[in-house]
Amino acid sequence: MCGIIGIITNKKRNLVPELISSLRNLEYRGHDSTGIAVIDGNTLKRIRRVGAPSDVLEEGEVSRELGIELRPFSIGIGHNRWATHGKPSERNAHPHVDCENKIAIVHNGTILNYEILKKALMLEGHVFSSDTDTEVVAHLIEQGIKDGKSFLDAFLESITLLEGSFGLAVCSVDSPDRILIAKRGSPLSFGIGKDSLVVASSANAILPHTNTFITLEDGEYAELVSENDGVRYSIGNFVDKSIDIAKNPTVIENFSLDELSKGEYGSFMEKEVHEQPSVLRTTILGRYDTKAGDAVLGGLIDYEDKLATAKQILTVACGTAHNASQVGGVLIETLAGIPVRSEIASEFRYKKIPLSPKRVVLFAVSQSGETADTLESVKEAKRKGYETFGIVNVVGSSIAKMVDAGVYTRAGIEIGVASTKAFISQLGIFYLLALKLARERGMTAPEGQDFISELEEMPEHIQKVLQNIEEQIRDYAKKCVAQNIQTINFLGRGIHVPVSNEAALKFKELTYIEAGSYPLGELKHGPMAIIDEKTLSVVLMPKDEVFALSKNSIEQIRSKGGDLLIITDVEGAKELEGSGLNLLVIPTLKNPLFYPLIEIVPLQLFAYYYSRELGHNVDKPRNLAKSVTVE
Ligand code: G6P
Repeated sequence: MCGIIGIITNKKRNLVPELISSLRNLEYRGHDSTGIAVIDGNTLKRIRRVGAPSDVLEEGEVSRELGIELRPFSIGIGHNRWATHGKPSERNAHPHVDCENKIAIVHNGTILNYEILKKALMLEGHVFSSDTDTEVVAHLIEQGIKDGKSFLDAFLESITLLEGSFGLAVCSVDSPDRILIAKRGSPLSFGIGKDSLVVASSANAILPHTNTFITLEDGEYAELVSENDGVRYSIGNFVDKSIDIAKNPTVIENFSLDELSKGEYGSFMEKEVHEQPSVLRTTILGRYDTKAGDAVLGGLIDYEDKLATAKQILTVACGTAHNASQVGGVLIETLAGIPVRSEIASEFRYKKIPLSPKRVVLFAVSQSGETADTLESVKEAKRKGYETFGIVNVVGSSIAKMVDAGVYTRAGIEIGVASTKAFISQLGIFYLLALKLARERGMTAPEGQDFISELEEMPEHIQKVLQNIEEQIRDYAKKCVAQNIQTINFLGRGIHVPVSNEAALKFKELTYIEAGSYPLGELKHGPMAIIDEKTLSVVLMPKDEVFALSKNSIEQIRSKGGDLLIITDVEGAKELEGSGLNLLVIPTLKNPLFYPLIEIVPLQLFAYYYSRELGHNVDKPRNLAKSVTVE
């Protein structure tokens, strides 16, 4: 949802290569257009392009075009856009500037009252050159300076006029020793290096420079200053007007730059799908007690009583995190007998939920920890008096900070916009949470031990699925593209329903083809009407208690001439032998509740290979951003 970067250093150099590589690390936040502005002496220079930085920004060429190839400088800012106001075009790409081309600004978020501000500024004689909401901020600061204010005061006064959300970074040729930044509602952190300070929308773009950074809270701003003998920063709050706020930097240990590269893979998505066995191992590591047959979730330890007495669980999430929550709901209801209500965050906020916060706990699930709908849901839930817990991947993210307690999913940095390893890690936490809740409600220690030993085996099973079916699924995806399948549905019963939802979401995200997902038994109540020889039904039906029913449903599909791909286990495959159906066989598991962890893998790969066959960019699907920080 737009990515911003800014670098200030007292060791002057051509910062263009660093700015571009940071923008590449932020492509997952938006990639429809991009731009860079640098201060070269007393001139502000800017370049803007339509497209993703890795496609349209080349270091040498950008440096030459900016005329700074061999000239060192100390300030640069950059932006990747995910268009909200104004279509993707060079004119609307950031950085935006004031009338005199002295102040440059990059922005992530949405300024809701920009039209009123723009009108007022135009009456003052300001000339606008884009259709964006962002440009007003450059002109507001310009006006403040014209009225006699310092750069900082003009900046602070301007941002207090803004309604909506922002992560901002601004520089000015008249104050060439500083970048001003501020945050409300959109994530913003700055890294602290020896001779540089680096501001960015996410740690991904900071970590290649330094592993030490400060994350701003809503209402905070900072001045990042370069001086002769180094760099310094100061933090204040533009709401309560406090200054010199002391904050402890976060230090990320054991970070490897490999996390930010594709390694031996052709795309981040491919890499992330293949990382899933090790991600699941990391997610569950040290989080269970084999002897006691119980889960040990350190982050929730102070709330064990609350969990033990909870009568209902609410989950709020979006996209893939919502699908993981729905799988979690089935696990918790089945194992612990606690009713679970899984809400889509953008709906939850505006809904009347007839549940008293007493004895109800809410889990907010989010990879990024920044999704605006989920974050706002947590705020709303807190306001209503719910105890709120997080299942979040990004350490120190807004949701992680806002909830009362929580568990990190430890998926590592996920860059592919279509979420894969984060899903597996969220499921990993739900298996542990369901175990914990079940052990508090009648599950015996030996049952808990069996559950743990099966969970421990799951990374190995995922590995086997990756090894055994990848080629088959690649060929099958190719065949489907050649066959020109028009409609695709993902189907299953019970715990396989939310997995079907996730499979359909992956397929839509990556192929841009509409895909449905239904409980298998529901097909006959309407969706069956669309089945013909141009439709493909992908059915999840390993041999569990609903297998016989599922067999019945697939015959109905077959009788209407529809194509079928059956994902089943070794035992299920034996029963379907000789049926002439396309089978994709996954291992048989002792406890059928664990199938989601392995059945999603071929479906992620199916969407991946289908998309590649169509020639799409699998890491950056059109119109989508990874972290959606607008509502
Ligand atoms: C966006 C992404 C999805 C993601 C959803 C929730 O829509 O494109 O892949 O599942 O946001 O993101 P979160 O970071 O909260 O898990």
